[in-house]
Amino acid sequence: MIKPENQLSTATKPLVANGTRMDPTDPRRSLLTPDPVPPPAHLVGGRVRLGPLTLASRFTMAPLAGYTNLPFRLVVRELGGIGLATTDLVNGRALMLASAKTLDLIQTCAEDRPFAVQIYGGLPHELAEAARHLVGLLGDGLASIDINMGCPVHKITKGGGGSAMLCQVGNAVALVRAVVEAVPLPVTVKMRLGWDAKQITAPELAREFEQVGVAGLTIHGRTREQGFSGGVDVAGIRSVVQAVERIPVLGNGDVRTLTDAANMLRETGCSGLALGRGALLNPWIFHHLARWDATGDPGDPPTYIQRLEFMIRHFERLLSIRDERFACLTFRKMAGWYCKMLRPGREIQQGIVMLESQAHFNQLCEQMRPAIESRDSHPWHEAELPLNLPAGPIAHW
Ligand SMILES: Cc1cc2nc3c(=O)[nH]c(=O)nc-3n(C[C@H](O)[C@H](O)[C@H](O)COP(=O)(O)O)c2cc1C
Repeated sequence: MIKPENQLSTATKPLVANGTRMDPTDPRRSLLTPDPVPPPAHLVGGRVRLGPLTLASRFTMAPLAGYTNLPFRLVVRELGGIGLATTDLVNGRALMLASAKTLDLIQTCAEDRPFAVQIYGGLPHELAEAARHLVGLLGDGLASIDINMGCPVHKITKGGGGSAMLCQVGNAVALVRAVVEAVPLPVTVKMRLGWDAKQITAPELAREFEQVGVAGLTIHGRTREQGFSGGVDVAGIRSVVQAVERIPVLGNGDVRTLTDAANMLRETGCSGLALGRGALLNPWIFHHLARWDATGDPGDPPTYIQRLEFMIRHFERLLSIRDERFACLTFRKMAGWYCKMLRPGREIQQGIVMLESQAHFNQLCEQMRPAIESRDSHPWHEAELPLNLPAGPIAHW
């Protein structure tokens, strides 16, 4: 078996010489500082290569539909350290119809590089056609195409797409083969471990996907049945890493701190990491991880004023990409986590939740600035990210 360079390096280098695994419920667990406990002395890894595409860092932004849109990607990219960022999942059929909503989802620009689009669908010929169409639309702006085989939501799985693919190995392989053959770009797959604990198909799929030419995989270490609950199964991710011969496997799920990152790399042998909610909690995490990987020093946590400036740049990006109404509505949705990041007090928090205009935004920022300027950076102890996740039993998602 050929050992991939980047997997060898993560498995064999001293990633966690002093690393301590921390209980996720430990109140000292910080989300905005690089780590509450001394992280491993040095995080050293190889390069992640997706076919001809070599990523500048092995830390990619996992899609969070409704959050990791172009304005957010751009402000996080400015902080540095992102190896690749991907759109939200896009319906292949809707791409062919070029609906306005779909075109918004694939919106990109020269600073948004390298950039991938994530597509889904249940029918091989349709998804291959959509992929071809996408290459025609985006040309050189598109670095790779990712196929979603992880989304647990009924709206996606009922047509055979998303995590439903995990139940039909033959069709999943045919679909991936069709897309790989349709486009001249690297094609990757993001998937879960399986539909449920009785049907763990990811290792078999990974092996098959590699055979038909997939350039890399991202594995979220949960089954569809788990939704977002329970812990990530690192042994499950490791079994996918071990199933492939050459292609990089990115581990995904619950990586929020440098220690989490080092543990995931060490325990799974994966080549790199995809971070979703961790990036929303701490947009600096890519910068810290990439710097740590390269130099052994993750750098300092962001000060409060840097956090405020980040929020302002994000709002400006939203304004410039669309309009005032879009910027305000998006901000309302993100008010919860910005308030956790900045702790501006109840009155301002209520203002952001009901944000009405650019003038209102400027006024709130000026109101919170004096308190923020006088604060140092310090750890933040709340572990919950205020995201709207589907509620109730997974069968009803
Ligand atoms: C609100 C939300 C939206 C998501 N949207 C997508 C998506 O569009 N495509 C996808 O592959 N995964 C999506 N995911 C899954 C994440 O990319 C990721 O696999 C999962 O959240 C676990 O990683 P994390 O703990 O780093 O967030 C979404 C997750 C959340 C919470």
